[in-house]
Amino acid sequence: MVKIIAIYGSPRREGNSSALLKQAVAGARQEGAEVEEVVLRDYKISPCMEIYACIESGECAIRDDFPKILAKLESCTGIMLASPIFFYTVSAHTKIFMDRCQSLWVRKYWIEKQPFSGAPKTRKGLFISVGATKGKKLFDGALLTVKYFFDVLSAGLWRTVLCRGVDRKGEIEGREDYLKEAFEAGRALAKELQKDSA
Ligand SMILES: Cc1cc2nc3c(=O)[nH]c(=O)nc-3n(C[C@H](O)[C@H](O)[C@H](O)COP(=O)(O)O)c2cc1C
Repeated sequence: MVKIIAIYGSPRREGNSSALLKQAVAGARQEGAEVEEVVLRDYKISPCMEIYACIESGECAIRDDFPKILAKLESCTGIMLASPIFFYTVSAHTKIFMDRCQSLWVRKYWIEKQPFSGAPKTRKGLFISVGATKGKKLFDGALLTVKYFFDVLSAGLWRTVLCRGVDRKGEIEGREDYLKEAFEAGRALAKELQKDSA
């Protein structure tokens, strides 16, 4: 069975990005995928301390909840990540988690010496985001960050659902178009992963 991890990156419970990700999760489950949901704010995760204890084994030395999420992540071929835009990038909860994956970067590029470009992408990633404003460049910073974060997880940035002009809690409920887009993206991801595993 296709396995997907859905990572909720907003500090706000029942917020806009969460509602969108829930739709994507529902879409993927409708296609028969097994989806594990991870709410980052429910985990105790320290920022990367840049001590590079991971340099020998590729394992992070900080003892907190990070390995719990990593284990879930490693068993999946699909990754759904949702984050609001905070100061033109992802939320702090999301970024702290990403930075802790530097241990995987070390394993991949320093220990296993995989080439920077051309390493096989064995996973597919869906990025969902939402911001209050409507500027053309609203998602540029986050997209660059997510692309390279997914690369560390051997995932391509397969699809995005990017929602502009949504700010207050619950405002997304009035945007049927975005909710539908997220649901369809979740369905499509599950289908693609099924094809990949056939
Ligand atoms: C700390 C902070 C920084 C923000 N920075 C931006 C920003 O740079 N651009 C923008 O359009 N909206 C910004 N917003 C608004 C959020 O992106 C918006 O409220 C979004 O709908 C929140 O999604 P959530 O409910 O999933 O947390 C910011 C909000 C907060 C709390």
